[in-house]
Amino acid sequence: MVKLSKRLRTIHDLVPKCVPADIGSDHGKLMIALFQSGTIEKGYAIENKEGPYERLKNNLTEAGVIDKIIPLFCDGLEDLPQVVDALIIAGMGGTTILGILKKHLSKLSNIQTIIVDAHNSIPLVRKEVCRLGFTIADEKIIKEKNIYYEIIKFIRADCAIIGDEDLEFGPVLRQEKSAVFKEKYRNRLSEINKIIAESDLPKERLLALNQEKSRLKRNL
Ligand SMILES: C[S@@+](CC[C@H](N)C(=O)[O-])C[C@H]1O[C@@H](n2cnc3c(N)ncnc32)[C@H](O)[C@@H]1O
Repeated sequence: MVKLSKRLRTIHDLVPKCVPADIGSDHGKLMIALFQSGTIEKGYAIENKEGPYERLKNNLTEAGVIDKIIPLFCDGLEDLPQVVDALIIAGMGGTTILGILKKHLSKLSNIQTIIVDAHNSIPLVRKEVCRLGFTIADEKIIKEKNIYYEIIKFIRADCAIIGDEDLEFGPVLRQEKSAVFKEKYRNRLSEINKIIAESDLPKERLLALNQEKSRLKRNL
């Protein structure tokens, strides 16, 4: 069995029975684990760079799954097979992820689930993926090697209007208020208090920080 990091394990555990494509598959570990755990019977591992694509093919061959997890060398959703009904896009910046999703919009028509691990611009990702016709079904926040990751599972649904604090903190995460969630935002609160105490800030910056403090306090 392939060993997954906590981040990839969390993504793995959010994947339903489906035919997924992992966009930016790199080493291919996630797709190999999904097949080995019986979560999926087949899927596609997509890469657009030669080095990672070669590594991907080698790893799929070594794991004996190359006939089940099909490697594709292409840009994002460009050559996405019709049979694919779920997308996993992990380990990239939020705007890169949104660029990949929006570049070939027609390819989203069969997609029922999108699992995203964006390393920044997470509120924007929540907003824009919902605008594409999805809603947030689940979310996880984890900490690995001192980095916080938010992993979001979107499912096909009529576009719902999401409030600003749901976009910022995550509708599921701010309800659950897990220990990791509280730690992340308590740290941010301390950071803001320190900035305010130690610097002579312009009025606008001070106002923005105080507003952020209020939002943090409401959600902790
Ligand atoms: C940082 S790695 C993340 C690998 C893996 N998804 C993970 O979360 O561990 C990002 C990978 O996405 C690939 N990538 C970036 N843009 C892509 C695109 N438009 N189409 C396919 N692959 C892409 C890169 O080549 C790289 O291997």
